[in-house]
Amino acid sequence: GNRTFTMIKPDAVAENNIGAITKMIEADGFRVVAMKMTKLSAERAGQFYAVHKERPFYQDLCDYMSGGHIVAMILEKDNAVADFRKLIGATNPAEAEEGTIRKMFAKSIEANAIHGSDSDENAEIEGSFFFAGIEKF
Ligand code: GTP
Ligand code: MG
Repeated sequence: GNRTFTMIKPDAVAENNIGAITKMIEADGFRVVAMKMTKLSAERAGQFYAVHKERPFYQDLCDYMSGGHIVAMILEKDNAVADFRKLIGATNPAEAEEGTIRKMFAKSIEANAIHGSDSDENAEIEGSFFFAGIEKF
């Protein structure tokens, strides 16, 4: 697939890192197809991360993701999902490689600066969660 979906998470938005993170994304060869700054309610955050609803950190995750503004983007590049997961690095910044977005900007395993879809199927579902068809040209 050639598209993925990302969100710059509330911690990174609050620290004025939208520009620095987007610069790294574009420098790695991704084209921004769609972009939106918004705020999730706790309920919508819960829908977005419904796959994690049985996990012990689910309520904290919903509170964190709805605690500030986020920037949602659809990105285009060959092999987008895998290449983007590589660019963002491990979920836990303590385990993220040098040069990754999470190594540079994440504060903790929860407040980890950025989301990246984990499959082509989820990239499509997540992009459609934030953007209407006419916004995804
Ligand atoms: P996303 O790109 O945001 O989906 O992250 P990921 O795919 O690297 O991790 P995963 O889907 O497993 O977890 C989703 C999000 O839940 C993470 O990005 C963190 O924000 C949060 N999270 C994951 N594991 C933990 C944990 O052990 N504790 C806490 N507090 N939060 C976690
Ligand atoms: Mg995930």
